[in-house]
Amino acid sequence: MLRSLPSLGNMNFAQALQVLPRRTIIVAVSLVTIFVVLFNFYGDVPVEYYRNYGPGETIAPVTTNNDKPQPGYFKAQPEWDWSVPKHAQSMSGYARTPKNRDIVVLTASDGGGHNSAIPNVLERVLDDREKYCAKHGYTNLWLNTSRYDIGEAHRTWSKIPAVSEAFYLYPNAEWVWLIDTDIIMMTPDYDLAKEILSPAAVTRGLMRDTPILDGQLKKNPTNINTPKDFRVEEIDILITQDHQSVNTGSTFFRRSAFTRWLLEMMTDYTMLMGQEHTGAEQDALKHLMLEHKLVRDHVGIYPQRKFNAYVQGGDNMGYRDGDLLVHFAGCWVGGKCQEWFEEYWGKKGHKDVWKPETGNP
Ligand SMILES: *[C@@H]1O[C@H](CO)[C@@H](O)[C@H](O)[C@H]1NC(C)=O
Repeated sequence: MLRSLPSLGNMNFAQALQVLPRRTIIVAVSLVTIFVVLFNFYGDVPVEYYRNYGPGETIAPVTTNNDKPQPGYFKAQPEWDWSVPKHAQSMSGYARTPKNRDIVVLTASDGGGHNSAIPNVLERVLDDREKYCAKHGYTNLWLNTSRYDIGEAHRTWSKIPAVSEAFYLYPNAEWVWLIDTDIIMMTPDYDLAKEILSPAAVTRGLMRDTPILDGQLKKNPTNINTPKDFRVEEIDILITQDHQSVNTGSTFFRRSAFTRWLLEMMTDYTMLMGQEHTGAEQDALKHLMLEHKLVRDHVGIYPQRKFNAYVQGGDNMGYRDGDLLVHFAGCWVGGKCQEWFEEYWGKKGHKDVWKPETGNP
């Protein structure tokens, strides 16, 4: 390189240094020293310091484009290129409790589907989630999933582009909680960071060595269990499992290299998304968990009622007093959903004994 610089002619590097004024060299060496010292010092600052100090945090309000379709196939959009900070780029992960303002509560919906059986259900739950978020300092976000061009795939796959877009719209969001529209927050005081997302909660709460289901256990044993031991640093996804399968109706995603990779794989059109899967994106996650230890190591399964209690079911599954929420999963078929929805809606935040544990799983 140096040799090609015309002004230096045939001089080698040592000769070139000799012709520079001594003062320049001294200044250069001092500058390098100062930087070395500074960087060493910087590296010694405890993580807590950075946690409470976020000069890069966006203050401008985020604008969503909920009313117009995206301009082409979803994966070609800039939303799929959401960023991952350095500390989250390694598969070995990190463990910390998120700040409340870095938690996004995401309702990904087009307001249609089964849920339209209840008048104004989307408006009502969004308004309720807004209050819940305001109380704790979380971010409430609705994304219109009709906007995504997902080819011929079933509409429920479009929840996954919504997760990507949430990370893209909120560059500081650390956790995105994807929740279906047919869910009512029953305990507004519930602290997500402390009870679900903190390393202590994850360590205490995840199910170890528990069968991962693919249909009913007796009919179709998978012989694949959740890890006996997991590293809390690696847990990037939090989900629950009902009597048949993991359920994506209520799922937490952490901003990390693993999560980006997982969302890309789940929506692989040739292998998964473009194929016929009755459970759509939920089946994609289930398959990836059953087939890949790497995925099992990063996806934590909590007991169902932790954040996905159903309106029906025994103590393992059905809503009981004090649970965070109730999910009206699959109950649209019976035609009683609307009635049940109104009943639970009226009991939001209740403190009385209403649905105590029964002793039956
Ligand atoms: C959702 O998006 C679709 C497609 O872009 C649009 O036609 C519809 O009006 C949007 N819905 C709302 C409530 O903005």
